[in-house]
Order: sequence, then C-alpha cells, then structure tokens
Amino acid sequence: MSDADKIVLTGIKPTGMPHLGNYVGALKPLIEQSKSNKTFMFIADLHALNTISDAKQIKQHTYEIAALLIALGLDLNNAVLFRQSDIDEIYQLNTLLMNVTPKGLMNRAHSYKAAMDRNIANGIDVDAGVNMGLYTYPILMSADILLYNSDIVPVGADQKQHVEFARDIAGYFNNLYGKTFKLPEPVIGQDTGLVPGLDGRKMSKSYDNTIALFAPENELKKKIMRIITDSKLPEEAKNPDESTIFQLYKHFADEAEIAEFAEMFRRGGMGYGTAKTMLFEKINSVLEKPRAEYERLMANTDEIEQVLANGAERAKIVASKTIQRVKKAMLGK
Ligand code: TRP
Repeated sequence: MSDADKIVLTGIKPTGMPHLGNYVGALKPLIEQSKSNKTFMFIADLHALNTISDAKQIKQHTYEIAALLIALGLDLNNAVLFRQSDIDEIYQLNTLLMNVTPKGLMNRAHSYKAAMDRNIANGIDVDAGVNMGLYTYPILMSADILLYNSDIVPVGADQKQHVEFARDIAGYFNNLYGKTFKLPEPVIGQDTGLVPGLDGRKMSKSYDNTIALFAPENELKKKIMRIITDSKLPEEAKNPDESTIFQLYKHFADEAEIAEFAEMFRRGGMGYGTAKTMLFEKINSVLEKPRAEYERLMANTDEIEQVLANGAERAKIVASKTIQRVKKAMLGK
C-alpha cells in the first residue's frame, strides 16, 4: 500500500484551547496530511468524560476544537471531521472489545500507573480517584482506532502506548475470531524542534508558560512582550539560538525571513523590545485570518454542528460496516 492510500485517524480531546506548541507540533502537520490522505479526525468527547463532568464545558470545548480545525484549513473533502459520541457504534465496539482485552494490559497503561503512583506517594488508596473511564481509556481508544480501519495514527509520544495497545487488542481479536481488524501503527510526529514557552522551557500547560493559539490580538501581544530574555543591551550582539524570541519566530516565518532575523540578532543594534514586536507581527500575520474565521464560527455554532453532522454521516458508513463484521465474528449475527 502506498502512503497516500493509508487511512489516517486521530482524536483530539476537548479539554480547552490548544496553544502555539500544540499548533506547531501536532495540528499543523495533521492539517497538512489531511490534504493527501483519507483522514478521520474526531473530537474525543467521550474520552473527556473521565475528567470533565460539566456537559456545557464539554460541548463548548468540542465546538472550540472543531472551529479551530476548520479555521486552520482542514481539508473537509479528504477529512471526515466528527464528534466521537455521535457514532453509536463506538459504544458497541467498546463493550465488545472489553472481552478480548486482558486486565493486565490495562494495569500497565502509563496514565493509570501515573495515577496509582501519585496516590501511593500521597499515602492514600492506590485507586483513589480512579474511575473506570480512566482505567479502560485504552479500550475506548482502541475502539476508535479499529472502528475506522485506521492504518496510521499520528499521536504525541505520550499516546504511543495506547496505539500499541490498539494493535495488541486487534491481534488478540484476530487470533480468536479470524482476521477482522487491520493492525494500526502509531506515528510520532517528527521532531519539529523545541517550541519554547514564555520562560524558555518547552511550551506546556504544566509550566503555565503557554500562548493560546487563538488568543485575541491584544493578549497575544501582551504575552509576547512578557517573554523572558537575558539583560543584553540593544547594541550588543546576540545569539539567536539562545533566544526564545527567535526560536518561536522560526516556526512561523519563511527561510529568508528567518535568516534575516538571525542576522539582526548577531549584528547587534536590535533591542529585545523590537525583536518582540517583530515576533508579534509575524505570528499575528499568520494567525490573523484563521483567528477571525474561528471567531466567526464560534458565533455561529449551527454551522459547526452542520459540519459535524456531515462528518458523522460519513463516519457512520464505515463504522456500521466494521461493527457488522465484529458482531458476526463474535455473536454469529
Ligand atoms: N487519547 C488521546 C489524547 O488524549 C485522544 C484520542 C482519543 C485519540 N481517541 C484517539 C488519539 C484515537 C488518536 C486516536 O490525546
């Protein structure tokens, strides 16, 4: 099979607005890939249920992710964009896969182990605060992957184990019932290089150093002005590779612009205030249009619902065929 024929699938959990690091490292490459491959992309609202118990929040975050993908130019001809919970077959496959999934596999899941480790460190019951949604999270994720006959699943390194579990579960199933599922492969995004946050460490929610992807223009500017720098004077020469400003700029500019900006650092004569203004203008010029489209969509959620309904219709065609295969194999019907 050529790469272009491979079915790509990925899910995004609706837990809040992605930041610039998510954009550069994950969203941008996914949207690029949606131009060449048949892509299933869904908002994993069922996966958010083990941490978010407010329906309004789940719905709002679902709209945010959908609007964001549409605004960033997800190719809606190749890509099937839908909401996980809209496809009834997912609940069915989840139940069916429970029976071929060894409990021991779930015990080894990183996210469950991390929760246990925290509890042990705090001297409380190992399973305190662990619901079955968290414990069986990898089964639901396997159901997502297998329901749509996925060949490749682009994920962050933290999700690699889950895709490997999906492959394992598909293998157990095929051994018991005959070949029913393809074996999916995780694809870990090529290293796009460090996307630093405001303090120079990797941009991450856990460091509280992020810039929201579609932060309003004035907030974007304020955040950029707050980037931590050293205390070099404007006239001094500076090493661009040591500058958070330059490292961020690199992800948004073209090669000629990057070379020119680097030269301005090395030459001296440019203060950090000027560099930050240039960075703001660059990022803003890239995000201005998609941000406006995002805001328009968020004010017209009916339009988002329409896109999702259309996606659900297309996703169901594949999902219902898979579930028929599985029911026939397991239940003889
Ligand atoms: N678990 C993924 C995350 O937290 C989201 C997700 C759910 C997913 N189902 C998926 C990713 C299927 C890839 C394939 O980021």
